[in-house]
Amino acid sequence: MAEQEIADASAGEISLVALGAEALDDTFSGELGERLLHVSTIENVMRGDSGSGLILGIESSCDETAAAVVRRGEETLANVVASQIATHSPYGGVVPELASREHLRNIVPVVRAALAEAGVGFADLDAIAVTEGPGLAGALLVGISYAKALAFALGKPLVAVNHLEGHIHAVLLEQRELKGEDLEFPALALVVSGGHTHLYIARRRGEGWAYRNVGRTVDDAAGEAFDKVAKLLGLGYPGGPWIDARAPHGNADAVPFSFAQVKAKAHRKGSAEAVAAKTLFSFSGIKTAVLRYTQVHEMGAAIEERRKRLAERPGIRPAEALEFFDKQTLDLIASFQHAVVGDLLRKTFRAAENFGAASLLVSGGVAANRELRVRFTSEAIERGIPVAFPSLALSTDNAAMIAAAAWPKFATGEFAAETVTADPGLALGD
Ligand code: KG4
Ligand code: ZN
Repeated sequence: MAEQEIADASAGEISLVALGAEALDDTFSGELGERLLHVSTIENVMRGDSGSGLILGIESSCDETAAAVVRRGEETLANVVASQIATHSPYGGVVPELASREHLRNIVPVVRAALAEAGVGFADLDAIAVTEGPGLAGALLVGISYAKALAFALGKPLVAVNHLEGHIHAVLLEQRELKGEDLEFPALALVVSGGHTHLYIARRRGEGWAYRNVGRTVDDAAGEAFDKVAKLLGLGYPGGPWIDARAPHGNADAVPFSFAQVKAKAHRKGSAEAVAAKTLFSFSGIKTAVLRYTQVHEMGAAIEERRKRLAERPGIRPAEALEFFDKQTLDLIASFQHAVVGDLLRKTFRAAENFGAASLLVSGGVAANRELRVRFTSEAIERGIPVAFPSLALSTDNAAMIAAAAWPKFATGEFAAETVTADPGLALGD
């Protein structure tokens, strides 16, 4: 079982880590309970200047095993990501069982690599931070079990972090690190990835942060639409970078995609506030529209041919192989991307106005998209509102964002409950 394998894998590291997570759960009421009490009594020491300020972040919610060491939420000492793209590529999407297995294989070497890169040891850390959710249950559990065992063995506090809050803090971390300044608040955050398309108003609350969800997708996430459209056009996985690389070669006006307004009664997921503010997204329709377009225009044979040729060249990069794409396909790709980015842009700026945001930030895998960055930046200039993006490395899943989001929680003593476990559907904010 997963927990035992992690424990076995870690056994050489610290003997106490060799406790399985189940054993840990039993222990929490007894010895560990006392231990945690001890942790909370040393909390004041941790909060003060006597700590190193170093947090080890661990992220395993989807298909990247990641570990990072970040000081006080503003200085990245190490950021290591083991990607599983090669594992999931043949399936055109993440296979949950394979993801868990890969996390198990990678977690110990990735954490070791992060510590080595940072030039620190376990003893130098102030706390361990781990992604609690949302994400794949089995994948999350690998990171959580490992982090729990590690925190217990080291006698250090464990901080549980919401993955979506992590994406927001990827931007805040780099603002401080690279520009030495914070954004203006309240900030409107668009978290747009393979699993999420969410709008949050983020503001400071005391030493910590408060979030209000003011928009979301009622079906597919934007990144999911990129991945599904890429798959049905015979492109590589993940689809976002392929579509991003191909779109500039096509005519974005060739296929007129449109987004119908998401109606309140068509779903139950959106809050009344988001419905009223017209900040709900829906991306399953455009995927179906692309599929229909390929059928009507009899593109099936060309798509199969492309799929076959790309499969013969594993490891091929999205920027290569332009010869595999005819004009009709390039136009379709460009039109699709233009429509999705346009929809994200309209609703995000509408929400910024409706909810009185002083700045904007866009994070998550889709924030790596070049057309998105260009169009959001020029719209922001036009409207006189600052917009910030993470570097490409921090746009997609990573653990630096988890360690950064953990810092204010650590500083205010918001440690994980002893019962903390994977929460695949964890929501953020009110
Ligand atoms: O944040 P992330 O690494 O994982 C999730 O939390 O989902 O995001 C991965 C998603 C995938 O759907 C991928 O296709 C998309 O981000 N993505 C992109 C680009 N790079 C990654 N989408 C559009 N353009 C890109 N350049
Ligand atoms: Zn993510």
